[in-house]
Amino acid sequence: MNVYLTLFVFALIDHVTAAMPKFVFAHFIVGNAASLTQEQWESEIKLAKHSLIDGFALNIAQQDTNTDQILQKAYAAAGQVGNFSLFLSFDYLSGDPWPVDRVIDTINKYKESPPQFYYDDKPFVSTFEGVANIDDWPTIRNKTDCFAMPDWTSLGPQRFAEVRHNVDGFFSWDAWPAGADDKTTNSDQVWKNATHGRPYMMPVSPWFYTNLPQWNKNWLWKGAQLWTYRWEQIYRFQPDFVQIISWNDYGESHYVGPVHDDGIPQGAARYVENNPHDAWRELLPYFIASYKLGDRSRIRITRDTLVYWYRPNPNQSGSNGGTTGNCPQQGQQAMDPAALAEDKIYIAVLIKEPSWIGVRIGSNNNITSFYARQAGLSMFEVPFNGQTGNTTFWIVRNETEVVYTTGPAITTDCIDGMVNWNAVVGSS
Ligand SMILES: *[C@@H]1O[C@H](CO)[C@@H](O)[C@H](O)[C@H]1NC(C)=O
Ligand SMILES: *[C@@H]1O[C@H](CO)[C@@H](O)[C@H](O)[C@H]1NC(C)=O
Ligand SMILES: *[C@@H]1O[C@H](CO)[C@@H](O)[C@H](O)[C@H]1NC(C)=O
Ligand SMILES: *[C@@H]1O[C@H](CO)[C@@H](O)[C@H](O)[C@H]1NC(C)=O
Ligand SMILES: *[C@@H]1O[C@H](CO)[C@@H](O)[C@H](O)[C@H]1NC(C)=O
Ligand SMILES: *[C@@H]1O[C@H](CO)[C@@H](O)[C@H](O)[C@H]1NC(C)=O
Ligand SMILES: *[C@@H]1O[C@H](CO)[C@@H](O)[C@H](O)[C@H]1NC(C)=O
Repeated sequence: MNVYLTLFVFALIDHVTAAMPKFVFAHFIVGNAASLTQEQWESEIKLAKHSLIDGFALNIAQQDTNTDQILQKAYAAAGQVGNFSLFLSFDYLSGDPWPVDRVIDTINKYKESPPQFYYDDKPFVSTFEGVANIDDWPTIRNKTDCFAMPDWTSLGPQRFAEVRHNVDGFFSWDAWPAGADDKTTNSDQVWKNATHGRPYMMPVSPWFYTNLPQWNKNWLWKGAQLWTYRWEQIYRFQPDFVQIISWNDYGESHYVGPVHDDGIPQGAARYVENNPHDAWRELLPYFIASYKLGDRSRIRITRDTLVYWYRPNPNQSGSNGGTTGNCPQQGQQAMDPAALAEDKIYIAVLIKEPSWIGVRIGSNNNITSFYARQAGLSMFEVPFNGQTGNTTFWIVRNETEVVYTTGPAITTDCIDGMVNWNAVVGSS
């Protein structure tokens, strides 16, 4: 059977994928959603379902006093929308570690709620880090009967292998390349091996830039093509689970959900406010259906789509803001961010038939053309080459323009004089 990818054929895709025990979740920072009403939660969930995401991993921090109120809205909203899963992801790093009794109580409080994700007949639970609390998990599992799949990436695979009997699987946070390298599946291979047959959750993230002095965070990682290359790796690697990092972590620039101004952490508005990432989701039905079917040749594109992304400022058009390439706090060598941040437009197209792709920067007549020689997904890059101005994109097939769209300006006029290392993302 073929799968036809349009906006409204989910019944068919659900039917095809239902038999396959593979799941795609998105990491959701509950603390950034404090202002959302239940209706807004429902709207977020519908957008995620529309992209074929199965559920949210709800990141909760023990110091946030409003977590229960927010979780109640989230579980009610997911129940209302239907067929969307939620599970808790205990964040052990954003404040002090979670006390074991509170972990147990929180899991038990939500595990009977219909949207709770169950795996192997157990309520599924994850973490962000928590490597000083590994010994809590035999007790937590005993008192909640949960399926525990922590992210203890900082342990390293060898030490994880020594403690894996405490848990049921592993989620890796290693989604970005070090330095100028390209991200490969080497770390996934090693982590999967370290789980010794337990399920592995593979991370995928479209971007990384953070500048939050109050958290002592100010670095970027290379990775402009991650959103396409990493999903290609997922298609080939076929992990048991995938987690998208993230839905709404605005402060780290890897959100794929809508920007809610109230949820932007202090200091991040400069690089988040005019940088929507929603268009990255346009590619998700194709990526997720590819992964779940394991055979892309069965997917037919029924609507031509072009998605583009780029940094709004050339990499030397302002102060670098003290941002380092790489994260020295994690033992990496600090690099010049401009050495990792390429001055390029990245383009992904999903097309019905072979087509010509046209790109222009600014208002001159310097057009870059590519031929996409096969139906399905193709990727292209256009260097800025010192050009600035609004961007224009089109797809032509059989001498007819089938797609035309424009994007915001590439400009050397940097907000507060600092290069914005986040991406702007748009689509036809
Ligand atoms: C959930 O999905 C199942 C199977 O695809 C379908 O029969 C059911 O109607 C859906 N429920 C809701 C509330 O959408
Ligand atoms: C917890 O441990 C007790 C004592 O060993 C055992 O009886 C009980 O079945 C365990 N509960 C779960 C959920 O594993
Ligand atoms: C996989 O794990 C085994 C032992 O658990 C080890 O001998 C082997 O080298 C590992 N392979 C990789 C690719 O990490
Ligand atoms: C950063 O900008 C400079 C000047 O435009 C350019 O030569 C360089 O290639 C850029 N860096 C990367 C990684 O593309
Ligand atoms: C035209 O675009 C190409 C790359 O797309 C670039 O190499 C060249 O410098 C541009 N020419 C002008 C005049 O901007
Ligand atoms: C880009 O487009 C916007 C909206 O059409 C327009 O207001 C603006 O002047 C354009 N900027 C440049 C640099 O051409
Ligand atoms: C485009 O032209 C080719 C051959 O020139 C033809 O096979 C194809 O059906 C045409 N496609 C459309 C969408 O008209």
